[in-house]
Amino acid sequence: MTPVPAEAAKNIKNAAGLTNKMETLFCSIGKDNPKASNDVFKKAAEIIKGGGLVAFPTETVYGLGANALDRTAVKKIYEAKGRPSDNPLIVHISSLPELKTAAKEISPKAEKLIDAFWPGPLTIIFKKNDIIPFETSGGLDTIAVRFPENPAARYFIRSCGLPIAAPSANTSGRPSPTSAKHVLSDLNGKIDMIIDGGSAKFGLESTIVSTVGDEITLLRPGSVTTGMLESVVGKIKIDKTILVKPDENLRPLAPGMKYKHYSPLCNITIVKGDRDKVIKAMAELAERAGEKGEKTGIITTAEDRAFFENRGFELLSLGRETSPETIGAGLLRVLRTCDDLHLSSAFIKAFPEEGIGLAIMNRLKKAAGYNIIEV
Ligand code: TXA
Ligand code: MG
Repeated sequence: MTPVPAEAAKNIKNAAGLTNKMETLFCSIGKDNPKASNDVFKKAAEIIKGGGLVAFPTETVYGLGANALDRTAVKKIYEAKGRPSDNPLIVHISSLPELKTAAKEISPKAEKLIDAFWPGPLTIIFKKNDIIPFETSGGLDTIAVRFPENPAARYFIRSCGLPIAAPSANTSGRPSPTSAKHVLSDLNGKIDMIIDGGSAKFGLESTIVSTVGDEITLLRPGSVTTGMLESVVGKIKIDKTILVKPDENLRPLAPGMKYKHYSPLCNITIVKGDRDKVIKAMAELAERAGEKGEKTGIITTAEDRAFFENRGFELLSLGRETSPETIGAGLLRVLRTCDDLHLSSAFIKAFPEEGIGLAIMNRLKKAAGYNIIEV
């Protein structure tokens, strides 16, 4: 398929309400056989080699890619996203030998993690090689590397023949994009191209661990859970800010986790406690907000849905509690939908903070600005 400017893309204003400055190519590809869309990847590689920006699908969320070795190209990522320049980027590779370009030392424990989880939704932090500019590492002497499993992501990186620096392809502060449509709504007119490869499989940003120093430290929870990591390398350290609210005295080890993140404009409230009390409280809170004239939503799992039906709230479906990965896969999309529907407030239950639930609650608490009601 030959890349063409998206019809839909032409008149959409981006999230900041700015008028488009450049034409963004929007190209859909087959989900499992990227080779069938060879022209799209050829064009994408041309753009990357020329110092431009291409958004691409991965199994976690969409990434906004640039040549990781080109400081001028990397600066454009920060501009397009409105991202603070001290927030480092992840370098994406499509084969193991490429890791040596970015990383200076690979510890035995890091080797074990690579064997167990790459390609996949795990980002590993190493000491940075000199060839990677400080613009890519946000001024740090460490570098985060990820080897995605998504075939389109790998084909894209391979076609470029370069390590690809890529943060999530959203405007800074908005929820990460799990579809190409989300990218378009944030970055249309600000980047050169979007490769549409369908919905992201996991829908949560990658797990991040640091392997610099003696211990393995978890900096961001994700679909590779603490239990999965510990079954490979033994006990790991968990950055405290994953478990408690960060503040001036307790800063996250991943610079990006200190910013108000994953957050919709809609006020999200998390309700925590026994199931029966929680659903009753959610309905009451939504009713009260509705009486004040607020447009209110309930974010519900399949298990609780019947309780909230036909009561005048906007109902947003979020997966099934018996398969927590469906909740992970839908969470960021649902947060965006709250804004698409112009809701002023929305209520959601707390999930158990174990397994993938740790990542779900980490994103949810940030989205809610730590607004949690216990019942
Ligand atoms: O799933 C993902 O990881 C997606 C896809 C596109 O790969 N990318 C992503 O990137 O979520 P980003 O930039 O939105 O989040 C990366 C996080 C930020 O919080 C950043 O501060 C942290 O990783 N980070 C990157 N390099 C780091 C480093 N050297 N040390 C500590 N934290 C680092
Ligand atoms: Mg991000």
